[in-house]
Amino acid sequence: MPSKAKTKPTSALSVNTSQKATQEVYFCNLAKLTSRGLTQTSPAAKALGNRQAVVLVDKRVHSLWEEQLESAPILKEAAMLLLPVGEKSKTLPTAETTMRSLAKMGATRNDHYIIAVGGGALLDTAGFIASLYHRGLPIVHVPTTLLAMVDATLGGKTAVNFLGSKNQLGTFHLPVLTLLSLDFLSTLTEEHLRDGLIESMKMAFLSGTRELDAAIHNASKVFEGDQEAASRLILAALRIKSPYIRDDLLDLGKRAHLNLGHTTGHALEAVYGGRISHGNAVGNGILVAMEIARELGSLRKRTPSVIEEMLTACAFTPLMVQDAEHLARLLWGSIGSDKKVSEGRATFVLPLGPGKVELAQVDEETFTRAAARVFRQAVPVLESPLDDDES
Ligand SMILES: NC(=O)c1ccc[n+]([C@@H]2O[C@H](COP(=O)([O-])OP(=O)(O)OC[C@H]3O[C@@H](n4cnc5c(N)ncnc54)[C@H](O)[C@@H]3O)[C@@H](O)[C@H]2O)c1
Repeated sequence: MPSKAKTKPTSALSVNTSQKATQEVYFCNLAKLTSRGLTQTSPAAKALGNRQAVVLVDKRVHSLWEEQLESAPILKEAAMLLLPVGEKSKTLPTAETTMRSLAKMGATRNDHYIIAVGGGALLDTAGFIASLYHRGLPIVHVPTTLLAMVDATLGGKTAVNFLGSKNQLGTFHLPVLTLLSLDFLSTLTEEHLRDGLIESMKMAFLSGTRELDAAIHNASKVFEGDQEAASRLILAALRIKSPYIRDDLLDLGKRAHLNLGHTTGHALEAVYGGRISHGNAVGNGILVAMEIARELGSLRKRTPSVIEEMLTACAFTPLMVQDAEHLARLLWGSIGSDKKVSEGRATFVLPLGPGKVELAQVDEETFTRAAARVFRQAVPVLESPLDDDES
């Protein structure tokens, strides 16, 4: 997939939040991006002034892209710390070890900033570290998965997993800048692309039919390695997400809609202990939310076929287990231990139809019926956690 990015960074988006913090997003070619080029284009980069960068990079990304990362003008001079890979390392011990390394190298609040290079797990962990170390260092994101480009990079939610639950410790720490380098997409597996596509479909569904049709159209091209289609898809997703961030950075109101598929999704990730990817878990979560809407009588007639079309475009297949009701009960238990159940009910975002979602308080029986309907299949494609319990 040859790079079509120009030498100069091109502005994709700038979000000014009601908290008076701003996040700028640029498409760029990391291999050609110089600090001078960046500071000439981006006001946020100028504000980083003479600070030194410390790069926190996902180990796998580093091993795949070592030559390009070590020679990228903007990263060359910076100290580099390699972080362990993926969801299992999104933990307090990883954050502590990294903060010890920052202290050892003498990083300070006034003189340093972080450049985070990796997927959503790395960005969440690096953001968590940046927000805590010396009460906060500025952070620049270089997302390397499609999922991180369409979603995780925007909006400043940081997190590590804790006590077996997703994102239990976290802060809000808006990156000053995101640098989107589409070349990274070329080393992603089809499953990684599927995960990113699912999050972008979620975003498009929130927006409406036109955006959903465009996302479905772009999805097949993204699988073929079409960078133009990928940049259209990413830009559309970020544009849809940006008003939620602008108006509700601290997630006290409408930002909750972005959690479509996430209540069940996070529970699946917790129950399967990282053996299911975030995007895949969210895809299953959207199906469960749809079935809950059916249970509550609020699902529009055409919505099931719309959701089927959008998930099929991502090459998504639903999770199938033999004892679906048992899995549903385990998931409810996890939602409860995540402190999401209050007075016997948990909040779900229901996909009524494109451009139309609503929050609903759902009890265990309704959830169990809906989830069991999604997961009830004859042939297991992923072992049920029941098997683990029995071993
Ligand atoms: N903060 C937010 O707003 C937000 C939003 C959505 C998701 N998230 C979080 O993002 C995480 C999921 O992100 P993800 O799907 O990017 O997973 P990830 O960061 O775990 O990356 C998935 C895998 O891809 C590898 N990888 C990364 N870039 C690569 C590349 N260019 N080529 C080859 N391999 C590469 C990683 O090493 C990892 O093994 C979850 O923890 C989720 O909670 C956060």
